[in-house]
This record gives sequence, structure tokens and C-alpha cells, in this order.
Amino acid sequence: MNRTALRMTALSLVLALASHGAWAQAPIVIKFSHVVAPDTPKGRAAERFKQLAEQMTGGRVKVEVYPNSQLYRDREELEALQLGAVQMLAPSLAKFSPLGVKEFEAFDLPYIFPSKQALYAVTEGRLGRGLLRKLEPKGITGLAYWDNGFKVMSANKPLLTPADFRGLRMRIQASKVLDAQMRALGAQPVALAFSETAPALRDGVVEGTENPPSNMFTQRMHESQKHLTVSNHGYLGYAVIVNKKFWDGLPGDIRKTLERAMEQATVYEKTIAQRTNDAALESIRRAGTTTIHTLTPQQQAEWRRALQPVYTQMEERIGKDVVQAIRREANP
Ligand code: LMR
Repeated sequence: MNRTALRMTALSLVLALASHGAWAQAPIVIKFSHVVAPDTPKGRAAERFKQLAEQMTGGRVKVEVYPNSQLYRDREELEALQLGAVQMLAPSLAKFSPLGVKEFEAFDLPYIFPSKQALYAVTEGRLGRGLLRKLEPKGITGLAYWDNGFKVMSANKPLLTPADFRGLRMRIQASKVLDAQMRALGAQPVALAFSETAPALRDGVVEGTENPPSNMFTQRMHESQKHLTVSNHGYLGYAVIVNKKFWDGLPGDIRKTLERAMEQATVYEKTIAQRTNDAALESIRRAGTTTIHTLTPQQQAEWRRALQPVYTQMEERIGKDVVQAIRREANP
């Protein structure tokens, strides 16, 4: 075959491939890193977002979910996001102070939300959107709030009155409000990464902790905790965040489709959060490793009294206006 014929053949092959999209662009990859087990509200919602995003973009986006601190642990993940090493996270609202956005620690204040409805009034309203906007100067876009419900306390002794906490080494997330919370109860707070918590409980480095049941059960913390109190003294929620440069750089139609996928994943997450935690508490009960206590109204009132000083101690750090606005919105 002479040179011209060869060139014509090659050209017609390229055109044929291109016409069948055989050279379709490589997909846009979103690495979604998080620190909890797949079978938790956040873990299942991340998978749901993956399914929706890939399906709704017709495969133009590929979401790679990395659960259980596989890729990055607590503190590392925020740095990785800002560097663009990952594109999406959903850290606990207790973990944003390293970014300098201390206002999110308001969500850690004891008993600040009387109900889920009160919480949603904040996260779904002007206040919640305003808090997410505070992340923008840090190169981060906040997309949504995800829910993991109210926390319980655990240790190897019954925790029924504040006096029961005296001197206990209690693991907390790295939040100054949670540090103040444990000190108000007479305990010694120990901030550890989530991935280090279960081993620290097993080895006795810490004696107790707090978390929603779904996190306790999926990390098998109950196997090292003989007692659990359904205190619902505090809330654990998440902000789903992306690297702002990545997000703004997406084609407009792709970004709008991903926003819709995130909306649907968020609705899904909220519908499963409570029942996943209820099921986890039941699994802990059935495991027989842990005695589950509830507080009498008198005991609950005693916890509230002991924890009240946290508000005055933390108002300056979080912003008195933010705390008052949340309380107004959450208790109309
Ligand atoms: C914790 O560190 O206890 C939680 O923030 C983990 C999580 O992401 O639910």
C-alpha cells in the first residue's frame, strides 16, 4: 500500500474511533476520603453520592470513596483537601478549628439542640449556609450538612452522675468545646484521631469516650466498654466539603448535576441516620458486652447543671452572636 493510501486508512480509522466516542474524555475523578466505617450514615451516604454522581453524569465523573481513614486520618484530611490531594471530605463539625473556623464548634455545645428538627432549622437555614460560607476564604466550598445524631457516653464504670466522670481519661475529638465539656464533668479530656480511638480504649490509654452508637459499634468500641449511657448530651454532624479550586473549575453542567446528586444523597443520609444509630445501639445491647443505662430526669438535670458553665467559657471562642443565633433558631 503506498504512503497516501496508508495515510488515508489511518485517518479514516481515527475518524471512526472519534465518531464512536471511543476516545471519550477520561472521567473527572473525585476522591472522597472519610474516617468512619462504610456501614455508618456517613459511609453509606458517601456511597450513595458516588452512585448518583456517576449515574447522573453519565460516567463523566468517577467518585472513589476511601472509608475508615484508609487515605487520610482526621487532621491530615483537611490539609490534603486544601492541597487538592483529595477533592471531597465530610469531617465532623468538631474538627474545623484547625482551619480557623471555630464557629462550627457551636454544634459541640452540650444540649444546644433540643431535637433533630431544631438542628435542621439551623443547618438548613440562613445560619447554616452562612457558616459554610466562612470556609470559602480557606479554599473550601461547603456543599451540605450530614447528620449522625446525638452522642452517648461510655466507660468501664456506670456514668450516671457527673461525679462518676471524676478523673476519667475520656477520648474526645479535637474541639475546645468538647475539652471544656469533659473538664466540666471532672474528667480528663484526651484528643485523639478517630482511627486511634478503639485501640486506645482497648489498651487503656483512655478509659471512656463519647460518640453516636453507629461509630461505637462499627469500630467495636463496645468490646472495651462495659457501660454506656444514652445521654444524648451532645450532637455529631458533618459538613460535606470540596476543594474550592477543583469545584469552581468543573464544567458548569457537571457542577449543577453534582449539586443535585449531593442534594439527593443528603436526603438519603438524613433518612437513614437515626435508624442506623438505633440499630447500632440494639446491636451493642445484643452483643452482651456493655450494660446500657438511661438517665432519670433528675440525673439529666444534674448533667445539664454541670455542663452549663461550658457556654460562658466558650462563648468568646465561638462568638456570642453565633451561639445566641443558634439558640434562637433552634428554640424558636
Ligand atoms: C470522631 O472523631 O469521633 C468522629 O468525628 C468520627 C466521624 O467522622 O464520625
